[in-house]
Amino acid sequence: MFSHVKDLQFEAKPDGPDAAFARRLQEVLGGKWGEMTVANQYLFQGWNCRLPGKYKDLLLDVGTEEMGHVEMIVTMITRLLDNAPLSLTEGIAEDPGGAATYAGENPAHFIHGGGGALPSDSNGVPWNGAFITASGNLLADFQLNVTAEAQGRLQVARLFHMTDDPGVKQMLRFLLARDTMHQNMWLAAIEQLKEDGLEEMPVPEAFPDSGELTEEYGYTYLGFSSGTDAAQGRWASGPSPDGKGEFRYDDNPRANAPEPVLPPGDPRLYGTNPGVAGSVVNTVKGKLT
Ligand SMILES: [Fe+2]
Repeated sequence: MFSHVKDLQFEAKPDGPDAAFARRLQEVLGGKWGEMTVANQYLFQGWNCRLPGKYKDLLLDVGTEEMGHVEMIVTMITRLLDNAPLSLTEGIAEDPGGAATYAGENPAHFIHGGGGALPSDSNGVPWNGAFITASGNLLADFQLNVTAEAQGRLQVARLFHMTDDPGVKQMLRFLLARDTMHQNMWLAAIEQLKEDGLEEMPVPEAFPDSGELTEEYGYTYLGFSSGTDAAQGRWASGPSPDGKGEFRYDDNPRANAPEPVLPPGDPRLYGTNPGVAGSVVNTVKGKLT
C-alpha cells in the first residue's frame, strides 16, 4: 500500500525561471540513470524479493525515497518552466537574451506537457522500463545499484555546473548527499549479504562450475591488445577478489576450436546458402541438354 504526503522531502524551488536548464534537468528525472530508473528498479527488486526482513525493507524504503526525488525534480522542472516565452517575438520583447532563451527550450515541455515535466531524458527520449533490472539475485542487483547511484551522482555533479541558480544548486546538493548515502548503503548491503551467507562472488555462487575450465579460464587475464601494459594491473596477478583463485596473465590467447563451417540453412528462410549458385547453374545446364 502506498500513501502520499503533500510535503516534499526537500525544497525544490528555483530563484528564477530557466527553461533551458529545465531541459537539462530532465536527464536525472527520466534518463537511463535518472530518479525514475532508481525508483522503479529498487521497488521492483523489493516487490520481487522473496526474503522477508531487512533486505526487502531496504529496497522498498529506498525505492520509496527515490519516488520522492522524482516528485522533487518534477516540481523543480515545472517551476523552472514558469514564465517561459512561448514565441520568438515574446522572447525578444522580454529581454535582449530572450531569443536564446526561446531557442534553448524543449518545445515538448509546452506542447506535450503544458509547461510541466515529462517522463523523458534531456533529449526528449521517453523513459524506458528496460532501463531497470530486478533479477531476483540480491548480490547481482546490489552491485548494479552501486553503479546506478554512482552514475546518478556523476550526472547531478555535472548539472551542478550548468546552473547559477542558488535554489536549484541547493536541491542538487541534497541529491548529491543522498547519493553519497546510497552508494555507501549498497556497498554495505553487499558486505552484509556475504556476512549473512546468502551469496558470494562470483554470482551466482551456487552454480557448480567445471573444475577444469575454471582452473584454466576462471582467473586468467587474456591480453588481446598489442603490448603488455594491462599485465601491470591488479587484475593480472595476485589473489582474485573472490578469494578463490590467483590471477594469471596470458599474453598470447589461443584459439581453442577450428573455424566454424555452417551447414546450409532451411531453404524456406531464403538465406544465401552454400551451393545455391551451383544448383542454379546445374538447373540451367539441365534445361539446355
Ligand atoms: Fe535519488
